[in-house]
Amino acid sequence: MEEKIIDENKQGTAITLEAKPKNTRKLYIESYGCQMNFSDSEIVASILADQGYNTTQNLEDADLVLVNTCSIRDKAEQTVRKRLEKYNAVKRINPGMKVGVLGCMAERLKEKFLDEEKIVDMVVGPDAYKDLPNLLKEVEDGRDAVNVVLSKDETYGDVSPVRLGSNGINALVSITRGCDNMCTFCVVPFTRGRERSRDPQSILKEVNDLVEKGYKEITLLGQNVDSYVWYGGGLKKDFKNASEMQKATATSFSNLLAMVAEAHPKLRVRFSTSNPQDMTEDVLHTVAKYDNICNYIHLPVQSGSTRILKEMNRQHTREEYLALVDKIHEIIPNCGISQDMIVGFPTETEEDHQDTLSLMEQVQYYFGYMYKYSERPGTMAARKFKDDVPEETKKRRLTEIVAAQRRHGAYRTNQFIGQTCEVLIERASKKNENEWSGRNPQGLVVVFPKENYNPGDFVNVKIASCTSATLIGEAIGLSENNEL
Ligand code: SAH
Ligand code: F3S
Repeated sequence: MEEKIIDENKQGTAITLEAKPKNTRKLYIESYGCQMNFSDSEIVASILADQGYNTTQNLEDADLVLVNTCSIRDKAEQTVRKRLEKYNAVKRINPGMKVGVLGCMAERLKEKFLDEEKIVDMVVGPDAYKDLPNLLKEVEDGRDAVNVVLSKDETYGDVSPVRLGSNGINALVSITRGCDNMCTFCVVPFTRGRERSRDPQSILKEVNDLVEKGYKEITLLGQNVDSYVWYGGGLKKDFKNASEMQKATATSFSNLLAMVAEAHPKLRVRFSTSNPQDMTEDVLHTVAKYDNICNYIHLPVQSGSTRILKEMNRQHTREEYLALVDKIHEIIPNCGISQDMIVGFPTETEEDHQDTLSLMEQVQYYFGYMYKYSERPGTMAARKFKDDVPEETKKRRLTEIVAAQRRHGAYRTNQFIGQTCEVLIERASKKNENEWSGRNPQGLVVVFPKENYNPGDFVNVKIASCTSATLIGEAIGLSENNEL
């Protein structure tokens, strides 16, 4: 399952957008970390396109270098620090080049960045991107610029993102920002602030634009999509008190999902991430009801031990999680389920670890993202506990859950042999350029010979063989979803 473990040493992706002929300055922008960061970089590039910047893929050419950073684990931060060294080398050749740090590390380290990393000219937190034009003026005048103010209501609903380095097929649409859950290991509530939902009309407008441009699949994005809620015409803060707010008609996540699916029956709709504690049955019924909402749920669990879940401040037990998994299978037949898992949370015993393995055995996840616990400064877990599981133990436990996941992945992929799946072609396969690669509704990667098909086609593929993470087959024709 290595392919599903996020490679935090991988270089961030530099992104390109259509050049505006009037623009003369060059922006190099790269992103690390979660999908939300990639989505945010699109917003940043849109704001800067109005400030005279076109994107470049060539670091050496850039007038402005922006790096959108991740703080989720220490390793993610170290990767960014290494990148900054690289920028520094380029800056020696091109002293006019300015460097800005965006995203979660900017928010976590604030002004400290300017002291620690001398090459950084600008530090901008995730809620301050609309201030970029002012911050850039400061920088141009030779001053360092910092804005790390978090907001209660910024959703960038009014910025229409330009799609960067995108294949024109899949797009990310953010629906909430921030997170209020305060899982004790997690830095996100500190770096991305309070949770807020975006106006459904602005979401729908963005989706309409994407469909018009020919996009075939969207992923509705939030740290915790199930807590999406929009109260009539306003935000929580616009109401005098709770009873006034309750009187307004609320749009829930399941309402939003239905609205998007209904507006575009040929568009594939996905969403991420579902938090088990907030997932409601009506979301499951909505997924079951609409053919174009993929039968796939990313349902992080983090641990199979109720004791550890409690210390993590996850609001459910092992049993409640397993009951939810049963409910999903009951309401949505053939639903793919994937996980996030952390090994070596403080105080995790061998017995807790065995609970994680046995939970995995019960669920048989399609795939998953697995991590060693990394202590993050300022979080509840860091304050309450010593990081007391030895590195060697963490490593061994990680190897064990990765091996279990590989077996479960293989079990799931084997079930597809002989079946036909609808696949949306995304790109040429990395391993064989004569093959296309795409995903089936359950989120599994499918590869098959190219023949006359094209990226963006929905194709029915008959599955002949598989690995633990990939289905291999042959196209038998376009699916009915393709009609013009
Ligand atoms: N709700 C979010 C979670 C973001 S973090 C979402 O949209 O997915 C993604 C995953 O990183 C978490 O589910 C968790 O498994 C892992 N993670 C978060 N903090 C971590 C830490 N301190 N150490 C190791 N892994 C961590
Ligand atoms: Fe982090 Fe938990 Fe929110 S993992 S992003 S605090 S749901």
